Amino acid sequence: MTQAMYEEGLAYAESNFLDENAAHLHVDKRLIREKFNMDGKKVLDFGCGMGGMSLWYATNFKCEVHGIDIDAHHVKIANDLKAKHKAQNVNFEVRNVLDKPLEGKYDFIVLNDVAEHIQLPILKAIFQALSKNLAAGGGIYVSYPPWRSPYASHVQHVVGIPWCQFLPEGMLLKMIEKNNRQIVGEEESDLLQAYQGLNHLTHNKLMGALEGSGLRPVYRKSHSFVNKYGPLKNANLRFFPLDFLVTKEFVLLEKAA
Ligand SMILES: C[S@@+](CC[C@H](N)C(=O)[O-])C[C@H]1O[C@@H](n2cnc3c(N)ncnc32)[C@H](O)[C@@H]1O
Repeated sequence: MTQAMYEEGLAYAESNFLDENAAHLHVDKRLIREKFNMDGKKVLDFGCGMGGMSLWYATNFKCEVHGIDIDAHHVKIANDLKAKHKAQNVNFEVRNVLDKPLEGKYDFIVLNDVAEHIQLPILKAIFQALSKNLAAGGGIYVSYPPWRSPYASHVQHVVGIPWCQFLPEGMLLKMIEKNNRQIVGEEESDLLQAYQGLNHLTHNKLMGALEGSGLRPVYRKSHSFVNKYGPLKNANLRFFPLDFLVTKEFVLLEKAA
C-alpha cells in the first residue's frame, strides 16, 4: 500500500466515523439509532474494513466492539484510526472466521456493506459460523446495496451510469477497465478485482445463504429515495418494477426458536 493510498483510506474511514451525513452511511446510522440500542452490548463488526463504522458504534454507544476483517491493509488503517482517536472500547483483528472460528458470544453482529462482496457458498458458511457466536436474544444485522439498485452494488460509482449492471457484460468490463485504479485493499487491490468479487446479491440470494444457519429474518427495510418524503417514510418498494429503485436493504436476523 503506497503512502498516498494509506492517507486516502484513513481520510475515508475517518469521514465515515465522524461525519453523521457521510453520503452512503447516513441512512444506516439513522436506522441504527432508531432501531437498536447497543449500550451494554458486545458488538462484532464483521468485515469492519478500515474501521469507520466500528469507531462510530464504539463512540455513540457504551458498547464493546470487536472489528474483524480478512484484509490486513484495512485493519492497519482501522488500528491507526483507533489510536488517533484514542478509542478504548474497540479492537481490530485480521481474521478469517472459517480458518479461525471466534470463541466468544456477541449480542449484535453487523455486516455493513460486506455481504455483497462474499461469494455465496462462503457467505453461507460464514452465517453458519456466526450463528454459533450469537448470544441468546442477539441479532445479526446485514445491510447491503442490492444488485438491482441504481448503484449496482457500488459499480455505478465506478462507471457513473445508474443501472450499469444491465449493460452487456463486455461493455461494462471495458468501462470498468477504463476507469480502473488501485485501491487500498490487499485482497482486492483494484476496482476491476472489486467488481469481480461481487456476488450480485438480492434478498432471495441472501435468504438462500442462511440455509443451515438456523437464522431467520425478523425485520427488513428496503430503502429508496421515496423514503425522503414524509408520508412515504416507511414505504418499502419491494415489488416489480419499483424494486429497481431500492438503494439499500437492511435485514435483522435472529436464531429461530
Ligand atoms: C465494502 S467493505 C465494508 C467495510 C465496513 N463494513 C464499512 O462499512 O465501512 C467490505 C469489507 O468486507 C471484508 N471482507 C470480505 N470478505 C470477508 C471475509 N470472508 N471475512 C471478513 N471480512 C471480509 C473486506 O475485506 C472489506 O474490508
